[in-house]
Amino acid sequence: MAGHVNMMDDYLISNLPPETLRSALRLLVSQGSGTQQPFVEHVRARFHENPPRLEAPERLFPRDDIVVEECLAFVAQARCIFSCKLSRDSLPYLEHFVRAIPHASVRWTENGELARLLAKFDGDVVQAVQALKESHPEPSSGLLSSLNSLLDSLKSCKEYCDGATPPMLFPFIRARRQLRDVTEFLFPNAAPSCDTIERAAVAITTKVTGRPAVETFQLGSFVIPRLFNGLWQLSSPSWGSGTAESQETALLHAVESGLTAADMADHYGDAELIYGEFRSKLAPEVQSTLYAATKWCIFSAISTPVTTSFVLGGVRERCRRLGGRVELLQFHWYDYEAKEYLDILVELVRITVSHPELVATIGLCNFDSKHVAEACEYLIAKTGSVEIASSQVQFSLVDARPLQEMVHVCEKYGLKLLTYGSFCGGFLSERWLNQPAPEIYLESNQLTPSQRKYFDMIRSWGSWDEFQVLLRCLSTVARKHNASISNIATRWVLQQPAVGAVIVGTRLGVSDHIQDNLKAFEFELDGDDISSINLVALGSSREIMLDLFRRLGDCGNEYRRMH
Ligand SMILES: NC(=O)c1ccc[n+]([C@@H]2O[C@H](COP(=O)([O-])OP(=O)(O)OC[C@H]3O[C@@H](n4cnc5c(N)ncnc54)[C@H](OP(=O)(O)O)[C@@H]3O)[C@@H](O)[C@H]2O)c1
Repeated sequence: MAGHVNMMDDYLISNLPPETLRSALRLLVSQGSGTQQPFVEHVRARFHENPPRLEAPERLFPRDDIVVEECLAFVAQARCIFSCKLSRDSLPYLEHFVRAIPHASVRWTENGELARLLAKFDGDVVQAVQALKESHPEPSSGLLSSLNSLLDSLKSCKEYCDGATPPMLFPFIRARRQLRDVTEFLFPNAAPSCDTIERAAVAITTKVTGRPAVETFQLGSFVIPRLFNGLWQLSSPSWGSGTAESQETALLHAVESGLTAADMADHYGDAELIYGEFRSKLAPEVQSTLYAATKWCIFSAISTPVTTSFVLGGVRERCRRLGGRVELLQFHWYDYEAKEYLDILVELVRITVSHPELVATIGLCNFDSKHVAEACEYLIAKTGSVEIASSQVQFSLVDARPLQEMVHVCEKYGLKLLTYGSFCGGFLSERWLNQPAPEIYLESNQLTPSQRKYFDMIRSWGSWDEFQVLLRCLSTVARKHNASISNIATRWVLQQPAVGAVIVGTRLGVSDHIQDNLKAFEFELDGDDISSINLVALGSSREIMLDLFRRLGDCGNEYRRMH
């Protein structure tokens, strides 16, 4: 239960508008486990004291093609349950929602408001099941039965959609794929469930006619594009939710445009499953041009010694989800004091030699400069060479911390930087030029989790007014090159030392900036452009960047504070 607050705070909390309360909570939760844990525990206790009701199907879906308040409230409650790490408890709520559809005999039209809600719910199930997997649940018969029951509800819903006149598109393809995968993972020896839905892959034909003009670079033994499709955006429907079909179409468009590399992670929802299935449907000669980068992220202490079989298990799980080889496996570790990461890296590098069919190249993710250097030296001592190809870090005009040390360490050991946050979630674009600062949780603003993250980053860098000065400066340079602000922001990162590629956050089936982003390969920033941009972004003697470095610490520091 909540503790004591003074009368004025009590009055403030009672009267604040919800969006201000949300941003205040975000600030409190971001302070670390001291505030994050009581927050989540309080929400869990409230749920246990007063679990939400299972609304009758007719109240959830009273009429065709419309979304009523009761339906929105039910979905919101289900989201709260799995987001506060009660994913197991959320399963009956998810199942109830799916079963209510045939029960209420509700119908929807393509792109209507109900179809959009169901697409989002598809992403919710993906996220809930991912959270369940990450909670390492006891594989009990009760859990198996809950998972099978949810699968069975999806099967009934599919039969209902197929049998409707005219038939309706089954809206939960992603949920079904993720659920089957996680059930198989948790219960590898269980009999196949009653869900006998076909898995037949329909081949995709591509129109790849000669390579478009995409800049490339060498990473390990691969020559790959300097723009990656980043798939963190599949982790949650808060980025919007494309249908399985629209996601596949978007991936195909990227590949046909020459953007053949994707960045994923073990915890990015169903990103690996989507990408793996897509890749498997392509003709072998196209498949071989694709580049799958994913991550193995260890966020807490491991309860086993570092052996080859432990590390091989981690690699095999990524290949299982991707349905094939990982071209780049990027490793993240939670605590530099726990030194096991060094031997894990040695094992990973050895596995690229012993099992090249599983993983081709090893990289690091969110390591700081000191520990990139430490890992490289350790590998040299143990194996005779570095054999780590990349380091993934946040790098943008408002977070140029990598310039301080990271780029030098990477140059010294021959690593390439793969950068994220380089578009600031889209803030570095014309859309935000001459606009007031957004209220990040106001529903009408429809900000994404990336934008909330990078709004915080912008505010760490400077004021919103100063950010507007930066956007105006970029806009002037953009006009000179007949390019967009995003192109200039991308080009600036691409022209920094050691940078291999910029990872572009990609909302598959929701938004598409491929044609604009390819323009970043059509020009170079000259010395005058760089000087005018650096003056605003970094300061005349890089004091803005140095100050950030001092306050936030080196690359990736913020991720270790969270765990
Ligand atoms: N290792 C890590 O810790 C870490 C952390 C974050 C991200 N990442 C990786 O990096 C990727 C990048 O994601 P991010 O969250 O950092 O986002 P980001 O790339 O900074 O921003 C992506 C957003 O920028 C907008 N955008 C892209 N091209 C544009 C253009 N030409 N014009 C206007 N707007 C454009 C789009 O917004 P709209 O869709 O709204 O139009 C897009 O969703 C992730 O998917 C993930 O693979 C890694």
